[in-house]
Amino acid sequence: MYILGIESSCDETSVSVVRNGREVLSNIISSQADIHAKYGGVVPEIASRAHTEAIYSLCESALAQSGVDIADINAVAATYAPGLIGALLVGLNFGKALAYKLNVPLIPVNHIAGHIAAAYIENKNLEPPFLAFVASGGHTSILNVSDYTKFEILGMTRDDAIGEAFDKTARAMGFPYPGGAEIEKCANLGDKTSVKIPMAKVEGSELDFSFSGIKTHVINYINSIQQKNGVLTDTDKNNIAASFTENAIQSVILRIKRAIEITGHKTLVCAGGVMANGHIRDALKNLCSTLDVKLYIPDKKYCGDNAAMIAVQGFYEFQAGHIAGLNQNAFATFDF
Ligand code: KG4
Ligand code: ZN
Repeated sequence: MYILGIESSCDETSVSVVRNGREVLSNIISSQADIHAKYGGVVPEIASRAHTEAIYSLCESALAQSGVDIADINAVAATYAPGLIGALLVGLNFGKALAYKLNVPLIPVNHIAGHIAAAYIENKNLEPPFLAFVASGGHTSILNVSDYTKFEILGMTRDDAIGEAFDKTARAMGFPYPGGAEIEKCANLGDKTSVKIPMAKVEGSELDFSFSGIKTHVINYINSIQQKNGVLTDTDKNNIAASFTENAIQSVILRIKRAIEITGHKTLVCAGGVMANGHIRDALKNLCSTLDVKLYIPDKKYCGDNAAMIAVQGFYEFQAGHIAGLNQNAFATFDF
């Protein structure tokens, strides 16, 4: 079965062709990061327009690279939620038109479920049930995945997503959007004990996250250094990045450990753009080896937004009979 996947929920336009659920034949991604960098973050209206301009040729390229004739595509899977509404509508409506033209089913895919499905690509034996952690620019969620299409949210962020906290911290240090990867580079050279950042807690909810306090603390710290010394040196940046990363890691580890204790899961899948971070990957590897939990993290190329993960999840949604009508809407938020 050949599924053509489409992703356009934020600032990456992507089209992919996947065979029989887990074999990625092509996965073309066009990032708009450079366009949004000058505004310091994603501008929704500009994102929608850039998706519109990119999607047709990406679709042609994804088909060409896969070697699959368009007439042999058996279904079209498109992200319908959550994300920027205008951006989602571009990919979803393109998917609708394609499905209609080819007379094949349209499969609506949840973006968070897609991030988790990225772990299936290189781990052919991985199957639910398992515990999942999705860490991206828009989401920070711990989920119980009881089946391929059955998800229960156990914990989530009450304010900023973890990736957003990375990006805002990076921005405060003068790095362009999205600054997560820059923070990782700086953190490699910094002292993680140098800046004291209080651990955030969500009263009465041990699996929920809060990152806005950490981000504000770091921004205030940066302002105080700039007032005192005039400039932020490279050493300051490295130390702030390392201390911020350490705080984010401890916040993640504490909750994942607790979620493992509560659910008794022996398998953990961690996904999303922030999982490209080597420090967080290493901390999760250590935790899982201590707890004797099997850990799956997608290859870095499948951590960020991509359409292969949407086509993979689309395969399981299709098997569960989750087909959309041509009146399918897109949603900025979601509920499993
Ligand atoms: O999953 P994703 O591509 O898009 C969303 O669904 O949001 O995640 C993007 C996020 C951005 O916040 C970006 O800064 C962050 O992932 N990110 C990183 C790293 N690479 C990307 N954060 C920390 N360290 C990295 N190496
Ligand atoms: Zn994402």
